[in-house]
Amino acid sequence: MSRCFDLARRGIGHVSPNPPVGAVLVYQNRILSEGFHKRYGGPHAEVEAVNNVPAEKRHLIPLSTLYVSLEPCCITGKTPPCTDLIIREGIRDVRISTWDPNPAVSGTGLDRLREKGIQVTAGILESEGRELIRPFTTNIVMHRPYILLKWAQSRFGYAGTTGEQVWLSEPDTKVWSHSQRASADAILVGARTIETDNPSLTVRDFPGRSPLRVIYDPNGRLHTRYHAFNDDGLSIYYFSRINNPSLTKSHIKTYLLSPDEDDFQQILKVLFENRIGILLVEGGPSLQKKIIETDMWDESWVIQTQHHLAKGIAAPDVMGRLITKEWVGTDRIVGIRRIG
Ligand SMILES: NC(=O)c1ccc[n+]([C@@H]2O[C@H](COP(=O)([O-])OP(=O)(O)OC[C@H]3O[C@@H](n4cnc5c(N)ncnc54)[C@H](OP(=O)(O)O)[C@@H]3O)[C@@H](O)[C@H]2O)c1
Repeated sequence: MSRCFDLARRGIGHVSPNPPVGAVLVYQNRILSEGFHKRYGGPHAEVEAVNNVPAEKRHLIPLSTLYVSLEPCCITGKTPPCTDLIIREGIRDVRISTWDPNPAVSGTGLDRLREKGIQVTAGILESEGRELIRPFTTNIVMHRPYILLKWAQSRFGYAGTTGEQVWLSEPDTKVWSHSQRASADAILVGARTIETDNPSLTVRDFPGRSPLRVIYDPNGRLHTRYHAFNDDGLSIYYFSRINNPSLTKSHIKTYLLSPDEDDFQQILKVLFENRIGILLVEGGPSLQKKIIETDMWDESWVIQTQHHLAKGIAAPDVMGRLITKEWVGTDRIVGIRRIG
């Protein structure tokens, strides 16, 4: 099962809003083949594992045990049900880590297999299996993207200065930041960050795809000369309370915010409807604080730097469970998870 998790992780950054899943076929205690879900809409891990069995060993499939990190699906989505494949291939022993988090279908895939006389074992390394699909579970249960907040702060707790760009973190931390961007489906920033820092919001210092750029500019001040609006083949979602004619471009999709509902709720709704599973919020502090107040975030990643900035815009305060601490040079990166 640990090998299934390793394989599943290779899909992170490519499969969301689907979950990362890995599968291994084992014959007489040796790995016959393995597979993982590689891209959104592509074959599931079980299909990959079965397809990867060499032709001369296909007769061993019915004699093998299938390990999968997530309960096999039993409904037709973008691909046919994996339970049908397992039944058709004659596999008699299936072992999974965790159940499908969707309460409407959880356990149904396993029931379908058991009805066919297949031996099913569930709950192997379950907490690790659940951890792997955390964003997916949030999407399914809470009907919103999984939300990661990320900011850098000085040793005195400041995140920036109004109207003036201050680079707080070490140059090497940029690689880590870009790896985070590569694992998200979308990246959100506020208008003042665009005006002050003029970020591109793309992935350059790490292999991976760039996320969808989401710009929050309630008062419609921005114009296309900022890097974040570059037309580099990726579309941009622009949220404003007023129509901003200077941003009428084919690659920029404008969403007008209604005064009757909270802005952030409206943004989340649009993103979720557009299959954004993981949203990274890169600032600035005003936007981050607003999101923390709504209690609609999942993880905060704080880059605690040694920079001496002692005035300006205070970094957000966040309470939660510490999940990780790591160092990049003199920067300490702290991961915090919301409790509840
Ligand atoms: N350290 C870091 O990791 C980091 C990351 C990003 C940015 N920054 C720094 O943060 C600064 C910009 O951050 P910021 O917090 O000023 O702005 P921001 O979060 O980038 O933008 C705030 C957005 O929220 C809107 N807004 C709505 N109500 C607001 C309210 N009551 N107060 C403030 N904004 C409100 C603003 O609209 P209006 O502007 O139209 O009012 C703006 O679009 C820059 O100095 C930048 O360098 C630091």
